[in-house]
Amino acid sequence: MTKDVIAAIIERRSVRRFTDEEVPMATVGRILDAACHAPSAGNLQPWEFYVVKNREMREKLAVAALNQEFVATAPVVIVVCALPELSARRYGDRGRYLYAIQDTAAAVQNILLAAHGYGLATCWVGAFDEEKVVRLLQLPPGRRPVALIPLGYAAEEKHVVPARRPWEEVVHIIE
Ligand SMILES: Cc1cc2nc3c(=O)[nH]c(=O)nc-3n(C[C@H](O)[C@H](O)[C@H](O)COP(=O)(O)O)c2cc1C
Repeated sequence: MTKDVIAAIIERRSVRRFTDEEVPMATVGRILDAACHAPSAGNLQPWEFYVVKNREMREKLAVAALNQEFVATAPVVIVVCALPELSARRYGDRGRYLYAIQDTAAAVQNILLAAHGYGLATCWVGAFDEEKVVRLLQLPPGRRPVALIPLGYAAEEKHVVPARRPWEEVVHIIE
């Protein structure tokens, strides 16, 4: 890892323009290893990752993502899937509707931060037609795609930090 964790958290930005430069698969592997180190309820790890390199498939994913064309411009798109029934077997509805989603969200964030640490850019894309993605990737039953993550080298520099809500609104201290 080239950056410490605080620098990665603060500096990471959503990037929506990528160069054509390939991402080494060894780096993708390290990023997915970081994903798998995310915490998960009962350590069930209710996730799977589909690494899409094929251009035609990336273009179809971009269409499924409500025509967010930038998705296809990254050399790799990681599709993060939740396995809600895996969590439901132990935790019932709380596992199905909450833990499986939280666990995969933690994995997504690890991907974004690890990618940033390796000098790569990402964007968490959540606006997409789930059924279309299931069909495109021919996902086995029980996989729910929860995020598309275009991954590549940034073709834009982000200098402006999108505004964050003020502390007074989001932090509540109980003394
Ligand atoms: C659950 C979720 C869904 C998102 N979906 C999209 C999306 O479909 N398209 C997109 O361009 N950005 C998407 N984003 C990225 C946000 O727009 C971005 O994180 C936010 O504007 C803050 O910018 P930053 O990531 O640079 O800090 C999503 C982020 C999250 C967490």
